[in-house]
Amino acid sequence: MCGIVACRTTDSAPEYLCEALEALEYRGYDSVGIAVQTVGGGALRLRSVHRVAELVERMADLPPRDLTGAGIGHTRWATHGGVSERNAHPHTDCTGSVHVVHNGIIENCEELRTTLVSAGHLFSSDVDSEVIAHLVEDELVRGVDLAAALGHTIELCEGSGAIVVMDSHSGRIVGASRHAPLVVAASPNGTFLASDISAFGPRVASFQVLRDGDVVELAVPVRWTGTNTDWPVAVAHTWAGTELDLHGYPDHMAKEIDEQPELAGRILDRVGADATNGALWRSLELPDFDRVAIVGCGTSLNAGGIVAAAFRRFGIMPAETVIASEAADAVLGPRTLVIAMSQSGETADILHALDGENFAHCQVLAITNNPHSSLARRANAIVECSAGHEIGVAATKTFVAQVLTGVAVAISALHELGRVNRSNTQSILDDLRRMPDLLAQSLTVAKDIVPPLAAELADSLGVIFLGRGAGVVYAAEGALKLKELTYRWAQHYPAGELKHGPLALVEEGTPVVIVDSGGARIAGNIAEVAARGARLITIGGAGSTIPALGRSLLAPVDNGFQPCGPLECVIPMQVLARELALVLGRDVDKPRNLAKSVTVE
Ligand code: G6P
Repeated sequence: MCGIVACRTTDSAPEYLCEALEALEYRGYDSVGIAVQTVGGGALRLRSVHRVAELVERMADLPPRDLTGAGIGHTRWATHGGVSERNAHPHTDCTGSVHVVHNGIIENCEELRTTLVSAGHLFSSDVDSEVIAHLVEDELVRGVDLAAALGHTIELCEGSGAIVVMDSHSGRIVGASRHAPLVVAASPNGTFLASDISAFGPRVASFQVLRDGDVVELAVPVRWTGTNTDWPVAVAHTWAGTELDLHGYPDHMAKEIDEQPELAGRILDRVGADATNGALWRSLELPDFDRVAIVGCGTSLNAGGIVAAAFRRFGIMPAETVIASEAADAVLGPRTLVIAMSQSGETADILHALDGENFAHCQVLAITNNPHSSLARRANAIVECSAGHEIGVAATKTFVAQVLTGVAVAISALHELGRVNRSNTQSILDDLRRMPDLLAQSLTVAKDIVPPLAAELADSLGVIFLGRGAGVVYAAEGALKLKELTYRWAQHYPAGELKHGPLALVEEGTPVVIVDSGGARIAGNIAEVAARGARLITIGGAGSTIPALGRSLLAPVDNGFQPCGPLECVIPMQVLARELALVLGRDVDKPRNLAKSVTVE
């Protein structure tokens, strides 16, 4: 999703901006642009509908210009207006001196644009963000200071968003946000603003997160104005260093798929023991609860489905998943614990859901990969899923991290509430501890068997995914990965539902992937599709097309239910989606139209 960067630095502004934009590429975008102040008080603006690398090449081809260290940059994920250079940010006012980058949606844009046009403003793009440049222009004409002009402008714009404005006459740069991420930091070489801290790289030791009402100016020191009476606290920034390094892998997705077994081991070492003695739950200092609602989107919602099942199966506790964008209708009874599941912690649908009146009485526990996110600040407590930076837009390792962390939280809470048989918690932990090995075995099998299978599916129009019980959510995740990566349709169903309609889709050669977690019923469903000539791909125990479900089938806990269900089945499905995408020539790290941090509703 849109990424903002800005700097006033003693180093080269274009170099910093392009490097920072590259660090934000993982968020997903379709066009990019920068504006850098020239020594004469103008600006060099460069925009592209290609990648940041193309912008860098074009910069290198330009005749040398005298540039200052002041500049702003943006990666755009189109909402209003098509993908074109004229719609790429930065946008300017009528004078060409106010430059704006924006992340978010201006809900009253049409109204504002009509008023501005009738007042004589000339627009040069179709995007909502351009109104900001003209509103700031009006304020400056009235003699208002740039920081106050931005403060007034953000008040006039309805909706959520982050804005950075550069006045190329003065080189001043100001930023503000409402319900959207924007962070500021200083180093000996300058001051910087960005949508997220990965843009700062190793330059800064700490950063501050803008709150609604703050207006910040890149100066030395950083200047705070706005409607708040104090400054936000500084948060230490520990730079992980090698996040963008592929370490010899062809793409980030391949690397992140491979990291999963080891990551599972680390997570279980960290939270496993505390899950079975209740310490994990106690450390959160949340009140007791009688029911659970897990809110999320996409892959995080699927991970939430596994965690909800653990609450239901082990604690006989009502637990449901709520699609964040549809949460307005959710009825959350008294003493409901809301678990907000989000790798980025910035998903606008989730943040908006939590603002709803129907959530007002609930305590919110965030399970997120980003402890500095808007969600982490909004929640009453957080548990980090500690998957490390995930660059591939389609989530892989964060899914596994969310499932394991979420299930550990569930077991810990149920233990504390006395809702799980205490003698059973140890066998649950033992089962969880097998996960790293099971994931590793599954990875080996998947890498061996899946690539030729994927090649066979190159001409298929789409794929059906089936499962039963805990397998249904994994089938959903498999179908989501395939859609995201290959742009082919993929649909999941509980296998028992097949005969109630979807079976009509199955004909000779239709690919059907089945999570075969065992039992006579799923065997019957497999027979039903086989009888109609489907191209069957079973993920199960020995004898399956992909025999990746090893010991989890042999040693079930609590009536055949593993704490995470057949988690290891997700790896072959991730590998299948990636391999088929490669066969079809897709960019597996940056699938079309998708974003990693979805900051619009
Ligand atoms: C986007 C991504 C998905 C992700 C979803 C939820 O749609 O493309 O991969 O699952 O957002 O993101 P979150 O950051 O809340 O987990």
